[in-house]
This record gives sequence, structure tokens and C-alpha cells, in this order.
Amino acid sequence: MTKKILLLGSGELGKEFVIAAKRLGQYVVAVDSYDNAPAMQVADEREVIDMLNRAELDRIVAKHKPDLIVPEIEAIRTERFYDYEKEGYTVIPSARAANFTMNRKAIRDLASKELGLKTAPYQYASDIDGFKKAVEQIGIPCVVKPLMSSSGKGQSVIKSKEDIAKAWEIATTKGRGDYNEVIIEGFINFTSEITLLTVTQRYGETLFCAPIGHRQERGDYMESWQPAEIHFYELEAAQKMAKAITSSLTGFGIWGVEFFLAEDGVYFSELSPRPHDTGMVTLAGTQNFNEFELHLRAVLGLPIPGITLERSGVSAVILSEIESKEAPQYLGIEKAACVPKSDLRIFGKPFTRVNRRMGVVLVYDKVGTDINSLRKKAKVIADSITVY
Ligand SMILES: Nc1ncnc2c1ncn2[C@@H]1O[C@H](COP(=O)(O)OP(=O)(O)OP(=O)(O)O)[C@@H](O)[C@H]1O
Ligand SMILES: [Mg+2]
Repeated sequence: MTKKILLLGSGELGKEFVIAAKRLGQYVVAVDSYDNAPAMQVADEREVIDMLNRAELDRIVAKHKPDLIVPEIEAIRTERFYDYEKEGYTVIPSARAANFTMNRKAIRDLASKELGLKTAPYQYASDIDGFKKAVEQIGIPCVVKPLMSSSGKGQSVIKSKEDIAKAWEIATTKGRGDYNEVIIEGFINFTSEITLLTVTQRYGETLFCAPIGHRQERGDYMESWQPAEIHFYELEAAQKMAKAITSSLTGFGIWGVEFFLAEDGVYFSELSPRPHDTGMVTLAGTQNFNEFELHLRAVLGLPIPGITLERSGVSAVILSEIESKEAPQYLGIEKAACVPKSDLRIFGKPFTRVNRRMGVVLVYDKVGTDINSLRKKAKVIADSITVY
């Protein structure tokens, strides 16, 4: 059953996926735009290419003839995936899913217009006049995002009229695509936000992990915890929406479906057709299978005999405060390692920049432990580690 997996993107999530794959005897070629990326360090082979370059991508696929093409990031020439599928390749979860989710317009229209999921009110604009009109229609405060971006890049909140010009400038210069269209979303005053890890299977039914709570800064996650506190009717609503959108996008694998929990209900926000960064909390042993093991089983078509919650856990990110072209060092690891019921991951990124995620602290205790005390504990440990 050994499969050759072409992993497109070799960050920390890819690294954990490769570790899971190697544990089940799979063969992995890890790809990224720079050498020695985290997943490459544990894979069988590596390729350094620009994945937005169609010819380069085609060359790598033809060279390796993988059984499975597993994207780990959005910034890939995903249109090519449709052709790869026609040529007989398996794209995870599917060419359709990768293409829809890399563009906020495609996924939002599918969610809201076609599937009728509850989302923030939204408009698009591709010039400054249209933008001003859209902001007026949606109302202030509102959130502005480039159609193609991730990790909060190019995103800003308009809190007063004075922010309008700046928001347009940020969204049209910091996005990934080569066009200027942006989305304007009504600001949802949510009480909390969650990721619902959802697993679609080749042979079995759709499975859900216990909801993961998280806190974001600058559009990047700072800490996540599992299980998140949520009413059963909210969970039911989120599961129903997650099932609707993943089955419409088609394919097998794990998905990170993001929701806002607000007083007037549960809002669908967006989803990743792959392991989610907030799902790193599952590395704390919160479940019988972590999110990478679940993704692997789903993409290989292996049975998953249920997902069970085994512990309460928290993840807290270790950020770099410096910029460095050399492999950074880590101060405070020995002390951090002394804390009972905690663990950590250092991703091994070969260079860094300010606020780059370099590692993650994991803490856990038995199910039912007060999450707030675990959050405090994780934050203290994460803050005690310095990247230099
Ligand atoms: N309409 C909204 N109302 C209120 N907050 C929002 C809204 N949209 C986004 N946010 C906040 O910004 C965060 C990032 O937004 P979103 O997930 O859309 O961007 P992203 O760049 O794709 O992030 P990532 O790739 O890290 O998931 C959300 O998790 C949420 O905290
Ligand atoms: Mg998000």
C-alpha cells in the first residue's frame, strides 16, 4: 500500500503530515520555494520550485508521477489541478476544492448563494469608487480582504471613514493575485470563533473533531484550545454547514472549517481543504488521532474507527521577534521542557522574520480541565522561549 505523495508546500503543517506518512511507510516528495523547509527535513525527496509557475509545477508532476498530490498551501497554480485529475492523478481533497478555497469570491459565493449558509454580509469591489459604495452599503465597521491571500495578509478593519482609503491601499497591494478585486465583509461581533476539523472519507461517513477555539492577532492564530465551549445547537449548526460545504467541494481529507459564534447565530467564515494551523492543538494528544494522522488516513482511504477526545489541550505559538537569514537559535527550551504535562515543537525553519511562527507549545490535562488555566500555562511557557 505504499503511495508516492507529492506534498506541495513544506511548512510546519506539512512536516507533521510527512511524519504521519512516514510512520505508515509512505514515500513523500516535499516541495516548496526555498530549500530545507520544515517538511523537506523529514521527507524522502525534495524539490525547490515556484509553485505558482505552471511549467515548473507540470515538470515536477511529470517527473515524479505521484499517486497523490497533496497541497499544503494556497499559493499554487491550482488551475492545473483540473488537468492533473483528467490525466488520472488524484488531487487532495480535489481540484475543485483547491481552486474554490484559494479565492475568497469563489468560496463565499458557493457558501452563501448556492448553499445558503449564514455568512457576514459582503460585497466585492475592483475600483476605488465601487469600493467606497460597497463600504457604505455594508456599513462601518467592516473588514476588507484581498480575494487571494492568507494569514491575514492585506486584511484590515474599517472603523471610521478615515480608514477607507488606507484599507483599499492595503488590500490591493498585499494580496497574492495579479488583480485588484477585494471583498468587503460586515464586521461580525462574535463572542468566540472556532475551527471545526471535518474529515471526509472515501468509504465512510463525514466525521467531526471536537471544536477548537482560537484567538487571532494580525490575522494569525496565537493560541488554540480543544474542546471549545459551545452550545449543542451551535455545534449542530456548524456541523451541518461543514458537511454541506465539504460535500459540495468534493474529495477526501481533513478540512478546517472556520465559524464565528455570535449572539444571532453561527456564521460560516471560510475553510481550508487541509490540516488547519489551529488544529496543531491535536499534537497535544487531545484526540486518538491528531489532525495530520486523520488527513493521512483519509487520503489513503484507510478506515477511521471514530474520533475520540482523549484530553483537553492548548497550543500557543512561539513567534520570532527578529529577522534573520540564518537558522535561528532558541533560548529557554531546557526550562520549558521541565514543565509537567507540556511539550513543544520547533519547526526548524532555516531563516526567520519578525512575527514568523517558529514553533508551538502544547499543554494538556484530562478532559474537563479548566481551559483558561491551561491557556495561561501555555502562554507563560511560549513567552519564556526566545528566538535569537
Ligand atoms: N467579517 C469578520 N468579522 C469579524 N472578524 C473577522 C471577519 N473576517 C475575519 N475576521 C477575523 O480575522 C481573522 C482572519 O480572517 P480570515 O480567516 O478570513 O483570513 P485569512 O487571511 O484567510 O486567515 P487564515 O489564512 O489565517 O485563516 C478571523 O479568524 C477573524 O478573527
Ligand atoms: Mg482564516
